[in-house]
Amino acid sequence: MTIDTPPPKTAITICGSLRKDSINEPLRRHMSAKLREAGVIVTDLDLREFEMPIFNQDIEDAGETPEAAKRLAEMFRSHDIVLIISPEYNGGVTPLVANLVSWVSREKPNPFKHAVFGIGGMSDGKYATIFALSHLRDSLSKIGALVVPTLLGLGPYPDVLDADGAPNESNIKWKVGQMVRELTHFSRGGI
Ligand SMILES: Cc1cc2nc3c(=O)[nH]c(=O)nc-3n(C[C@H](O)[C@H](O)[C@H](O)COP(=O)(O)O)c2cc1C
Repeated sequence: MTIDTPPPKTAITICGSLRKDSINEPLRRHMSAKLREAGVIVTDLDLREFEMPIFNQDIEDAGETPEAAKRLAEMFRSHDIVLIISPEYNGGVTPLVANLVSWVSREKPNPFKHAVFGIGGMSDGKYATIFALSHLRDSLSKIGALVVPTLLGLGPYPDVLDADGAPNESNIKWKVGQMVRELTHFSRGGI
């Protein structure tokens, strides 16, 4: 009897900031590298290539849903893991991420039921995006996503990073590993 090796898992990673010097981008890159080390095939998305107007149901009713929303929905449906690394604005989710979730949530079949979701963020404050992550987890759960238990909040930037842009605290290093273990352990597959 031969035992088939399962195919490698696939992931998309997203940074929830368009800022050219985004402090979240190094964390997204770090997590992409860690997922690759774990054998995952990672595609890094740049939200500049998925421009969408602020969600307005009139646009949708007019049949003018941006093609970027359809492309993103298909990316969500066709990958095992979706990782969102985003700043916190005013204790909540950034407009960029809220807009993305709004548009993609309108697509059918539900784009949030295939992948396993990981969420994290970097802040220049010591609360480390934890309020935003809590909101984002609630919102994603409400629309049917499976979000792994580890929330990867880092801050304050830059104290928490070493010269290579990697987390320098042992508890955060452990959390990074734990998030990768959770993202690669669980499977969803459309149920
Ligand atoms: C509108 C706005 C609201 C913000 N609110 C928060 C906040 O609630 N908590 C926090 O930790 N940082 C907050 N910040 C600071 C961000 O952590 C900081 O600007 C960070 O660099 C943004 O991430 P980015 O560099 O990836 O764009 C806020 C920044 C902006 C522009």
